[in-house]
Amino acid sequence: MIDLHCHILPGIDDGPDDLEGSLAMAREHVARGTSVVVATPHVGWDYPNTPEVIVTGVATVNRALQAEGIPLEVLPGAEVALTRAVDMSAEQLAALRLGGGPWLLLEAPISVDSPGIEGLVGLVQSRGVRVLLAHPERCASFHTDPELLSRLVAAGCLAQVTAGALTGFFGRTVEAAARRYLDAGLVHVVASDAHDATHRAPGMAEPMEAAGYAPLAPWMATHVPRALLEGVPVPPRPPFIAEKPKKKRFWR
Ligand SMILES: [Fe+2]
Repeated sequence: MIDLHCHILPGIDDGPDDLEGSLAMAREHVARGTSVVVATPHVGWDYPNTPEVIVTGVATVNRALQAEGIPLEVLPGAEVALTRAVDMSAEQLAALRLGGGPWLLLEAPISVDSPGIEGLVGLVQSRGVRVLLAHPERCASFHTDPELLSRLVAAGCLAQVTAGALTGFFGRTVEAAARRYLDAGLVHVVASDAHDATHRAPGMAEPMEAAGYAPLAPWMATHVPRALLEGVPVPPRPPFIAEKPKKKRFWR
């Protein structure tokens, strides 16, 4: 599997504090069947990470992975806050794309309802990057405007759901939104959005299976992520009818 959203670089955002923490996450990724991770540290007004800092961090982690014999490859990327992205030039945005492909992981404000979000996303798209929306199921704007995601997808965006959202890690409202978007065919990628090795941990296949979406896991965790990194068209979604979830809720 290919994880397009993970905070694995040490010491530059709310991910691991040190390289040992990054390696612990890497071991979890491998144990759960992931072979490629895009490092997506926050880039925003609160985390002013630059492409140079990110590339240096990726090189450090990859060297440590080789030294430890951990079969995981880390590629550079970023999770760019929408409020920061609108203030960036085309060149700045291009330097933060996922794995050097055409796609930018864009994060809408989580807890604040932001009217005008479509105009802001359109502004970012007009600067030459393609937009993968990070976890819309967790963002207030998408809850208050249930049609917002379908309009953004119609405008060329793709959407990434966070694996833990499907099993209730972020609560029932977020879980219901994630399932609604998935059932409506508005989600293209599942990612871990892992921040550590134990609490917000790596892994995509198990939550997908627990939530009844196992047949979509190869498409969302491998085929679409690979197409986005390579900059080729997204393969068609396999036919799928939602099953009833076999739950094991994380909050119990
Ligand atoms: Fe994230």
